[in-house]
Order: sequence, then C-alpha cells, then structure tokens
Amino acid sequence: MKVKADAIIGMNFGDEGKAKVVNTILSEGNYTHCLRFNGGSNAGHTVYINGEKVVTHCIPTGVLQGVKSIIGTGCVLNVKKFFDEMEYLSKWVPNIEDLVKIAYNCHIVKNRHIEEENREIKIGTTKQGIGPAYREKYNRTGHRAEDVDSLKRFITDPYHEFYHNEKPVRILCEGAQAFYLDIDWGFYPYCTSSHCGVGSIINNGISYKDINNIIGVSKCYETYVGAGSFQDLSDKALDRIGEVGQEFGATTGRKRQTNYLNCKRLIKSCKLNGASLVIMNKLDILREVGVWKLFDMENNLIDLDNEDSFKEYVRQCIPDTDVVFSESPYDI
Ligand code: IMP
Ligand code: MG
Repeated sequence: MKVKADAIIGMNFGDEGKAKVVNTILSEGNYTHCLRFNGGSNAGHTVYINGEKVVTHCIPTGVLQGVKSIIGTGCVLNVKKFFDEMEYLSKWVPNIEDLVKIAYNCHIVKNRHIEEENREIKIGTTKQGIGPAYREKYNRTGHRAEDVDSLKRFITDPYHEFYHNEKPVRILCEGAQAFYLDIDWGFYPYCTSSHCGVGSIINNGISYKDINNIIGVSKCYETYVGAGSFQDLSDKALDRIGEVGQEFGATTGRKRQTNYLNCKRLIKSCKLNGASLVIMNKLDILREVGVWKLFDMENNLIDLDNEDSFKEYVRQCIPDTDVVFSESPYDI
C-alpha cells in the first residue's frame, strides 16, 4: 500500500503557530496519521477546540482531530508527563487510548535527566531533561519505550505501522521546535538537542521517497526563548510587537525575545527543508503595531512603506516557495 507523508516544519525558533496549521489541515480529513518526529515535553503546541485553549506538549496535536498519533523514534518521552497529558486530553478525545502510539525505539526521559539539567545546563532550556536524555541515547546507555512496562500497550514499530498497513497511509508530520533550534543548524549552544528539520523525518521510519510536501511555518517577525541574546532592547517597537503578539512561552511562561523577520535566515530554512509553501503567521500583529521592518537578504534592517511592500519583499526572497500570509489567534 502506498505511503504518503507531508510535513509541517518551523522555519524560525519555534512558536510560529505550527499546531494551528496542523489542526486546520487535519480537520479536512485527508490524513490517517500524525507523527511527532522530534523533541519531547519542551514543546508547547496550542490549538483552540470550540473556542477552548488546549496545549499539548509530548502528544501530537493530531489526536485532537481524531487521527492516529505517533510519538516517533526521534522523540524523547517522560512517562509520567505522557500519562498526565493523556488524561488531560481525554476531555476532548474520549477514545485517546485507541489513537496514541509510541515508537518502540523512542527514548525515555528520567527524573535524573531533569535533575542533571537543573544542575548543569545554563542556556535557558525548558528544564524538561531533554539534553541529558538525548546525551544518554547517544551514549548508548538510555532506556527506550519498549523497556517500560506501563507503555507496552501503546508501543508500535513505525515501519510496520506505515509500510505493513492494509489501508493507504497518509501521514502529517508535526515538527516540534524549529530549524534554528536544531542541534546542528540552530544557534549552538542556544538550541535544543534534537533534529528539527526535514532530515529527521526519514529517521522516524518514512522513506524520503514518500515525503511529498513540506509546509514551512514562520511568523512575520521572530521570537526566541532562551539565554542567547536576540532582541535589541533599545528598540521599543519590538517590545510592543511582543506585547501585542502575546509572546510568552506555552511551556514555561517565559517572555519570548522578539526581533524582526530575518529574510536571510528564512531563505536558508526554506531551501534546506525544501519548503514548497510557507505560511507567514501573525501579519496582523505588525499591522496593529504599524511597523513593516525586516532584515533583508544581506542582513540589513530595512523599513518598508506598508503591508503590501512587506509582503512583496518576502515573496521575492523565496521565489520557489509559495507564500501565504495568515493572521492570529494570538497565542501559539
Ligand atoms: P530544551 O529543548 O528544553 O533543551 O531548550 C533548549 C532551547 O530551545 C531553549 O532556548 C528553549 O527555550 C528552546 N525551546 C525548546 N523547545 C521549544 C519550543 O517548543 N518552542 C520554543 N523554544 C523552545
Ligand atoms: Mg510553542
């Protein structure tokens, strides 16, 4: 049976509104699976279900649309947080136990990973034990989901799930974090410990031949949470954008540092991830603040005349990628 996968990938530093896009696309009913392919409870994915705000951390957002949802090989999973989240989400998805699966070779986050992180790591992480869990994985001393008794009933082999399925398989891959938080392509060391780009999908048990469309998600400005220096604090318009855009972390509540869109970075992330479409979220925030600035292709800050010239500039930066501008809900 044919397998086809599409992916939603963050083009900036996370919090671009990926979950909103995933939820909207899945509501059209064209997918059988939703796959989280990297990260763990460091993510905070916010969607609105009948006007109610729902935040997922380790379980794919797709479960809220009743789609079979897989926590993939590239993820790390905290068992207690997983069960807490299952219970929290069961309010919206009563049959959640039938929908969620965990790759047998997904690694486990232990309490000692969180303790270790609190002791050693000073880059402004989400304190979910992510770095130490991946370190142990690569040290080949980690535990995997298949080793945990209480997870047995959720375990799957992604290869079997996708390639030995009696029905056609249509997978929407839900990226967590984003390309500039990637362990290799991000702002090292102010990044996360997983692979957040398209390459990661292949390592989750999907052949590159079966990946079709990559949809990049960006914001019309950038935000970053962590200890790296990102925002020009003397520029009051940036504070205003952060305020109007309600830029506070969904996992830690921290204020996100805010900066203008960097086109040089956007060009690179669209190119390296092969994005055929990029959704530029939160255009309305720039409209409300009345600032149409961006860093151009040479990294110079330029001030464009109006909304149309802003859109035009972004479009001509990435001529091979379709661009759709989109507006709030604000907290993403
Ligand atoms: P960690 O992933 O918790 O190790 O954090 C590493 C860096 O990635 C920190 O700067 C975090 O704030 C950032 N980060 C991790 N996950 C997310 C996310 O889902 N959205 C935004 N930033 C994130
Ligand atoms: Mg988030």
